[in-house]
Amino acid sequence: MNNPCFLIMDSGVGGLSIAQEIQQKIPHCQICYVADNAAFPYGTQDEPTLIHRLKQLLPGLEQRYQPDIIVIACNTASTVVLEPLRQQTSTPIIGVVPAIKPAAATSRNKQLALLATPGTVKRQYTQDLIDSFANDCNVIKIGSHELVHQAEKKLRGQTVDLSIIKQELGPLMESNNRVDTLILGCTHFPFLKQEIASCLPTSVNIIDSGEAIARRALQLLENTPNRNESTHLNHFLFTAEDTHAHALETGIKHLGFSKIQFLPNTNTEFTQKPGAS
Ligand code: DGL
Repeated sequence: MNNPCFLIMDSGVGGLSIAQEIQQKIPHCQICYVADNAAFPYGTQDEPTLIHRLKQLLPGLEQRYQPDIIVIACNTASTVVLEPLRQQTSTPIIGVVPAIKPAAATSRNKQLALLATPGTVKRQYTQDLIDSFANDCNVIKIGSHELVHQAEKKLRGQTVDLSIIKQELGPLMESNNRVDTLILGCTHFPFLKQEIASCLPTSVNIIDSGEAIARRALQLLENTPNRNESTHLNHFLFTAEDTHAHALETGIKHLGFSKIQFLPNTNTEFTQKPGAS
């Protein structure tokens, strides 16, 4: 496939950590990145609201950008929306879920910690992953909204507050530092990997899902017919106007996005409750 086009979605900048991994493995791809800031943060939305939001948002984006592959670059959403979305489109969809399986396979002492949004840590999907792939492990679940905000700040060039990171990692410390593997189960968190590592013993292995998602994308492309001869031009789109958007320009530039655009008519849809016509 010449220049495959990826539609990559998250509530904010987190999914750029996945876009980065995809760009590394597939440098000639085109990326249409959508940050659904109208509905940010996804971590506080209930499941029906999230399903409704993404089911409404995706068809228009798909029609507009004709992607070869859609990536829901958000653990919070992927743990609930993948099946409903796959029912409404034939475009291949890749979801991002916590890397429980590789963590369990590589942990030496079977003491894991999952750092994700409060939404992700409480999902049945997440518990099912633990039951299926880490049933011989002890898994400490830590849900944090604060770290999502810290990652958003970092990409806007603001200083990350290390005391907040330490505070959020508190339950991990209480386990007497026995955890040897920390799973970053939110796509925002790889942007804070350095800061998180600085608060933990060096023996803790920190893993995320990014590389595995890029590998999956490459594999899928082998079996996906080329839909369009896309250009190499990447797009970064917000679903709602943001007067402070310019603060992100430097942060996203080195990730290959030159300009921020705003999608028309996507904000109002979010105010409609599930069931509303
Ligand atoms: N980046 C998203 C994830 O992977 C969540 C951020 C949010 O709460 O909006 O779960």
